[in-house]
Amino acid sequence: MRSLMRILVLSCSVAVSAVPAISQQLASTPPMGWNSWNHFAEHVTDADVRSAADMLVSTGMRDAGYIYVNVDDTWQGKRDAQGVLHPNERFPDMKALGDYIHSKGLKFGIYSSPGPKTCGGYEGSLDHEAQDAKMYAEWGVDFLKYDLCSFQDMMKKAKADHPNDPDAAKNLMIAAYKKMGDALKATGRPILYSLCQYGVDQPWKWGPSVGAQMWRTTDDIDDSYGRMIAIGFSQAGLAKYAGPGRWNDPDMLEVGNGKMTTDEYKTHMSLWVLLAAPLLAGNDLSKMSETDKSILMNKEAVAIDQDPLGKQGDRLYQSGDLDVWTKPLSGGRVAVGLFNRSWDNRDVSVDLAEIGFKNGANLRDVWKRTDLGLHTGVFTDTIPKHGVTLLIVSK
Ligand code: GLA
Repeated sequence: MRSLMRILVLSCSVAVSAVPAISQQLASTPPMGWNSWNHFAEHVTDADVRSAADMLVSTGMRDAGYIYVNVDDTWQGKRDAQGVLHPNERFPDMKALGDYIHSKGLKFGIYSSPGPKTCGGYEGSLDHEAQDAKMYAEWGVDFLKYDLCSFQDMMKKAKADHPNDPDAAKNLMIAAYKKMGDALKATGRPILYSLCQYGVDQPWKWGPSVGAQMWRTTDDIDDSYGRMIAIGFSQAGLAKYAGPGRWNDPDMLEVGNGKMTTDEYKTHMSLWVLLAAPLLAGNDLSKMSETDKSILMNKEAVAIDQDPLGKQGDRLYQSGDLDVWTKPLSGGRVAVGLFNRSWDNRDVSVDLAEIGFKNGANLRDVWKRTDLGLHTGVFTDTIPKHGVTLLIVSK
């Protein structure tokens, strides 16, 4: 057995500002759903979204908790003389689409940008925030992803115009996010507000103050093991900023998109649930394999993410390619991920006494769906390359 060198991660408690009641109501646990971008990207149509809604129901995803159906970028058409933004020809009637989604017991999400253009070059909401928010509310929108995109040009200009103010660009961005947050609030419809600005200027510190319930912490994910682990394992230290109504978002899921192995997708799902990340599936639901289903709908994995305590997990040890992460759960339980990023099978260990179980604990293997019985002291498992063992530890 190769031993794990332990690096103690000091968890310092910080005063976390109060979360508004509306945020608690909208996102007491990390939001879950499906988003069009990772699979359909700029080709998404009304028919694709309706069929995704149908399949969230028929596959069991809705009942597993995936309730938002989020149309990402590229639904927008042009603004008319009154400034009203119309959808493009691929989305004939957004209100009807929202009604259809709601008729399936699901919620409707949409996408825009604080800049003049979205990342795909479509119309953004700059100078039309209140008008757009009102329209979303009329369409029955329940979720807005607001993506920085072309607003970055305005930030660059602010920086150039105010060379002596290091916060000029950041303050401009925060004001732009607050403007839409206030506009959403003014509609009177509860609309979950998701910031997408790639983790620029520590949104976990100011996200709640602009009315957001979640914020991206990094640049985009893609369907590769390298990118997924680069994002997932870089989340160490952010746990203290998450909680009911306020979630760090390491980006959407790639499970089922086909370019990772089963062990790699289990690593992806394990990390995201330990991180209490929003779980937004991004796969083609019409082609879900039994394996994809068993990963995305593993009840015990989803329950780790959705645990009512609302604590994000964090790194306990790291040694080279081996990592141990823990997440406190309700009822005095702890979820533990033993990760192996190397190209060989490797033994990874956790000291049960160190995570609060001096007299031993019952272990449950979440992926194998097996009770491992009572263990005391150091528990070691052999983890396949790029794989994980996800445990629930209880008295
Ligand atoms: C950015 C976001 C992605 C997606 C695309 C759409 O890259 O980070 O999640 O929304 O824009 O253009």
